[in-house]
Amino acid sequence: MEDKFDWLDYDTEEMVTADKDALWHHLKPHKVFESSEQMIIVEGKGLMVKDIRGREYLDATSGGVWSVMVGYGRDSIAEAVCDQLKKMPYFAGVFGNVPAIKFAKKLLEKLPNHDKVYFSNSGSEANEKAFKIVRQASRISPERKGKYKIMYRDRDYHGTTFGAMSATGQAQRKEDFGPFLDGFVEFPHCACYRCPYEKTYGSCDIECARKVEDIILKEGPETIGGMIVEPITAGGGILKPVPEYYPILQEICKKYDIWMIMDEVVCGFGRTGKFWGHEHYDVDPEIITMAKGLASSYEALSATVVKQKVYDVFLCDPADPDDRLNYFRDISTYGGCTSAMTAALESTRIIEDENLLDNTVEVGAYLIEKLETLTKYDVVGEVRGQGLFAGIEFVNDRETKEPITENQMAQLMGNVLAQNVIVGRTNSSFHGLNNIMNFAPSLIITKDQVDTIVGAVETAIQKTFG
Ligand SMILES: Cc1ncc(COP(=O)(O)O)c(C=O)c1O
Repeated sequence: MEDKFDWLDYDTEEMVTADKDALWHHLKPHKVFESSEQMIIVEGKGLMVKDIRGREYLDATSGGVWSVMVGYGRDSIAEAVCDQLKKMPYFAGVFGNVPAIKFAKKLLEKLPNHDKVYFSNSGSEANEKAFKIVRQASRISPERKGKYKIMYRDRDYHGTTFGAMSATGQAQRKEDFGPFLDGFVEFPHCACYRCPYEKTYGSCDIECARKVEDIILKEGPETIGGMIVEPITAGGGILKPVPEYYPILQEICKKYDIWMIMDEVVCGFGRTGKFWGHEHYDVDPEIITMAKGLASSYEALSATVVKQKVYDVFLCDPADPDDRLNYFRDISTYGGCTSAMTAALESTRIIEDENLLDNTVEVGAYLIEKLETLTKYDVVGEVRGQGLFAGIEFVNDRETKEPITENQMAQLMGNVLAQNVIVGRTNSSFHGLNNIMNFAPSLIITKDQVDTIVGAVETAIQKTFG
């Protein structure tokens, strides 16, 4: 028999030491690992993960960043990927491949107002493509000449690369990395709990949306080509706009011919109980970006999906010397991996065949109802969310809404983890406002598992705040 490496084999102590020696973990201060171990996850099934020491956790974060939509241990995804890898692992996206064609068709079925799919490999990159589309269009389209700027909201996150960070509003997350790119314009968020205009919903005339027009006029509408938003802000604290918000924003965008870019990287693929987060609103963006849940993170894949009118800008004439370079001159090596599209096809099939949107609506409502019972504790300022996507904002004073401190938040998180439940939080995003705990379990979660999660949070509140 042919010799086969067993990459699944390891020695626990060797791995724990090697983790400290060799790995630089994401978004972590590493001094702490001089006296403690980093958690090393080795197995997962459903919503449960096991670490290298054999301890099991209930994961309420879908893999830490809200992306393992169908849960762990899906053999059918692994098998589909394995079959595809054996047949044809890779060829660059300059050519077609069967899984890419099939998955593009599937996406367009889910987005009937959109027409073309461009693949890449991360959410940041999908957003970069959207920005490059807007910028190139501002050079090559006579109607869009000079419209190169992108607007973004001050609590949204759009990724880690420089363009995506230039379009990200989280001041603490961006600190130390500037200077950022020219041509990105910030506008205020739309979270009612901390209204930027100190208004109350019902008597506010949705100023958070209407005032965006003033910013556009000040900046010069003839210079603005795109506006990027998250349907429901994720890392910025689970901020769900009111129903009137996007229609108003879209009307303003249409008035000044600004393409709306909807960043569905977190909300897409069922997270909020509809397939797309923006389906909760009467809005029809020109460009939609997606990643994370696309292939349930079994493989890395992202996409930028556009309307025909956007695509048509790039239909140049190769025989015309003045026009011949006016196609979208962009490439992404890993926008061509056949196995990623295969994983995405199978993950999406599971979401559909197992009716996971129905589960998300039902168990998501239960999650929010249960979290709301925690408002009996004074430190719970607000519970908010949609579908299986929820947040608790913790405050030391309900009247002034003074956030709890970083230390209190860290203790709270530690006390949840101590009960073998993993939840998320706003993490070094804002000065003094990293006080939101978030929940985004896989779409297969049961009500019993919700009870375990909320029970752990309640015990942690009692332990932390007495
Ligand atoms: C809304 C949103 N957009 C984009 C990104 C960037 O995605 P990636 O980390 O895959 O580059 C993220 C990542 O968390 C995100 O939350």
